Amino acid sequence: MGNCLEGRSKVDNSLSSRTSTSGTTQSAYKSSNSLRLSNLTLPTNSEKSTSGSLPTPRSEGEILSSPHLKAFTLNELKNATRNFRQDNLIGEGGFGYVYKGWIDEHTLSASRAGSGIVVAIKKLKPEGFQGHKEWLSEVNYLGQLHHPNLVKLVGYCVDGSNRLLVYEYMPKGSLENHLFRRGARPLSWAKRIRVAVDAARGLSFLHNSKEQVIYRDFKASNILLDSEFNAKLSDFGLAKSGPTGDRTHVSTQVMGTQGYAAPEYMATGRLTAKCDVYSFGVVLLELLSGRHAVDKTKVGVEQNLVDWARPYLGDRRKLFRIMDTKLEGQYPQKGAFMVAILALQCIGEAKLRPQMSEVLHALEQLSTTKQSQSPSHSRLSTGSHSPVPPRLSSSNHSPVPKSPLKHNFPSPMNKSPRGSPVPHQLKSPRGL
Ligand SMILES: Nc1ncnc2c1ncn2[C@@H]1O[C@H](COP(=O)(O)OP(=O)(O)O)[C@@H](O)[C@H]1O
Ligand SMILES: [Mg+2]
Repeated sequence: MGNCLEGRSKVDNSLSSRTSTSGTTQSAYKSSNSLRLSNLTLPTNSEKSTSGSLPTPRSEGEILSSPHLKAFTLNELKNATRNFRQDNLIGEGGFGYVYKGWIDEHTLSASRAGSGIVVAIKKLKPEGFQGHKEWLSEVNYLGQLHHPNLVKLVGYCVDGSNRLLVYEYMPKGSLENHLFRRGARPLSWAKRIRVAVDAARGLSFLHNSKEQVIYRDFKASNILLDSEFNAKLSDFGLAKSGPTGDRTHVSTQVMGTQGYAAPEYMATGRLTAKCDVYSFGVVLLELLSGRHAVDKTKVGVEQNLVDWARPYLGDRRKLFRIMDTKLEGQYPQKGAFMVAILALQCIGEAKLRPQMSEVLHALEQLSTTKQSQSPSHSRLSTGSHSPVPPRLSSSNHSPVPKSPLKHNFPSPMNKSPRGSPVPHQLKSPRGL
């Protein structure tokens, strides 16, 4: 098996303390527990992020006739993977097994193992209607959206009840494998920041496309890395078109992955781009701490990364307690603190969360700030001699930084009477 994922699923409310605040919440979730069937048309997206009209439903036939995609036969893909041989298996997600395969660069037909170009072929588990819907969703979105930080879809196959997808091969696998797989070489701080920037670019592109796309399943296993460690988003099975007109959200069945899904979405099924921002915050926490969003081997509050990490994020003197020990202290204190503050804002109350474009801007600044890149153990409690990174507090001893965000969100470091950070006291400059 490529990795040890829990399957993607409807998020199980019973596993989260965060959604049990009211009877409404409980019943909203229960009603979402059943499979909701809808017609097999999906909203369209513009060819480019900058153009397009309002989404109009596309029929399955229209989606599959995308000029960018090759329709493969099952036989071709059997040949390309040596009949889906076990040693060609490179990953498993909630909905499919992923195999390495080879196709001819020019004709795209199957070629001998080891010759031509390498592709990743996802064969969906027989999930009935839901599996087909996810497969069609991937073809719909990835067939039309093109960006350096989205994985490329080469083609698809529909044959009887078999559904397959053919993607560009991402040789370094998923971020999840690098962060959590036993024996994996630890990811350096610089690489973690690069991955965060790339992933933020991908999400930002989706959110700012004329016809907004909400990704809905942002997590470490869906961030893939190419040979140069460029990160790309894959797995568009749960992607959804954003609200249009005056609508503030899209009402959906609650889908996603436990630990990454935004609490307000789990409680209400109301999907907005801010749900992706929350998930992005969780991945930032995974990058900082090297811990899984949910870890059932731990006890109590430590099972849920957000609950466990939150109290440490706003205090630079405490932050080291949650930092990934695999980094062996090789990270810049200020840079780490800025990422922690950003994560805190992303996992805060929905209305006050930054937009992905703002998160991206903050991370880009961080990645180009030399001082923030260079690892250092020694700057732990000093800093008065070091240059102040942009948008951090001028007082290097203060645990209260300014927001790393472009529009200077109020610091989430307002203290509660008990002295703990209270992110929900943030106020949005956009007056949302
Ligand atoms: N293009 C690819 N290149 C390399 N590995 C991939 C590729 N696509 C998927 N994988 C591996 O397979 C795993 C599951 O793929 P994913 O598309 O997320 O499936 P699912 O829809 O079932 O969640 C990923 O986490 C990754 O390890
Ligand atoms: Mg996946």
